[in-house]
Amino acid sequence: MLASDDPTLNSAPVMADLAAHTTPHSIVSVQYDPKGVTLGWSDGRSSRFHVLWLRDNCACRECRHPQALERTYMFIDHAPPVVICAKLDSRGALEVRFQQGTESHVSRFLQGWLQAHDPEQSLASAGALRPRPWDDHSGDRLQRVDYTRYMNDREGVRAWISALKVDGIVLIEAVPQVSRQLLPVANRIGPVRASNFGEYYDVVSMPKPNASAYTSMGLELHTDLANWRYPPDIQLLFCLKSAVTGGDSVFADGFRVAADLRASDPVAFGLLATQPVEYRFHDASCDIRTRATPIEIDRDGNLQRIRFNNWLRGATVFPEAILEPMYAAIGKFWRMLRAPRYQLHLRLRPGDLIAYDNHRVLHGRAPFDASSGERHLQGCYINQEDVDSTLRMLDRPA
Ligand code: OGA
Ligand code: ZN
Ligand code: ZN
Repeated sequence: MLASDDPTLNSAPVMADLAAHTTPHSIVSVQYDPKGVTLGWSDGRSSRFHVLWLRDNCACRECRHPQALERTYMFIDHAPPVVICAKLDSRGALEVRFQQGTESHVSRFLQGWLQAHDPEQSLASAGALRPRPWDDHSGDRLQRVDYTRYMNDREGVRAWISALKVDGIVLIEAVPQVSRQLLPVANRIGPVRASNFGEYYDVVSMPKPNASAYTSMGLELHTDLANWRYPPDIQLLFCLKSAVTGGDSVFADGFRVAADLRASDPVAFGLLATQPVEYRFHDASCDIRTRATPIEIDRDGNLQRIRFNNWLRGATVFPEAILEPMYAAIGKFWRMLRAPRYQLHLRLRPGDLIAYDNHRVLHGRAPFDASSGERHLQGCYINQEDVDSTLRMLDRPA
């Protein structure tokens, strides 16, 4: 289709993208050849956009559904494109003409959108909210947000998300002390993620517990639902009653401990990152198992996920050659987790709601004396996707 036939060309291009893309820099030069477009920016940088990528990301109503904003263009049904012209249009958008066999097509790209997708920039940009490892004895690490501010104020929920992403843990204070009040807190972010323990669960000491959490035993530092292929991303624990002797909470930054292990004992770290361990939960109604490495790293070697839970560790059948080294490696990581300098101690009070990244921050509790009074927590899980989406919605222009 030629430019003059396209009805969208009479209005500003929208990029079929609801996110805000403003740029302090503007395009000062446009060069093209059949394989792509090279832009010069007012801050002196230049960036290169390949013809295949530009054509594939056209946002016109022929290429994206105008309401759903999703891609309708199917590149395999068209001849490979070549750029036959590129320039700034009268509104300052980049206009690119493609030839594809006998077809031609015109696309427009907003400058801010191009800058947001600059291959050089996006490879280099670090993203502001990256995990920051805990310092030793980082009791002051814990950020606190007031319940009313979290529920009613955009900046309150932003502060909560920032702390969760950077520190991996954040406390909401003064939550109304009403059963199930953790659900509206979760739903401020998104739907809860249910498990075999239900939509939410009551953490109380019970006479016939189906899980260690439902006793008065101490719980060593662990991650929850390690026996699931995809353990939940974020755990919320809401304190309704804590009138017992004992039962204090403890947390540790598993990424910090794993990084220290990697530096001090790369062989142990390597085993934990490559050798799967079985994790299992079973009761009268289910038997849920998975095999996965206690430490997961991505292709670049960055820490992705800690999966560590002694009572959910199954009867893993290790090859004999790695059995002793594996026990040694698990034991080493576990002993490190017990070191006080890595630990954050906290006594949850009624109305406290602690949330943490279940792939990074391990949690536990001291034993308590169930005869000394009542202790009642409620827990649930939410998804990281909803956390990140909420943050993007806070940034979206009204
Ligand atoms: C849990 C848990 C900690 C506590 O329910 O997953 O670890 O303080 N509980 O009871
Ligand atoms: Zn198009
Ligand atoms: Zn737990």
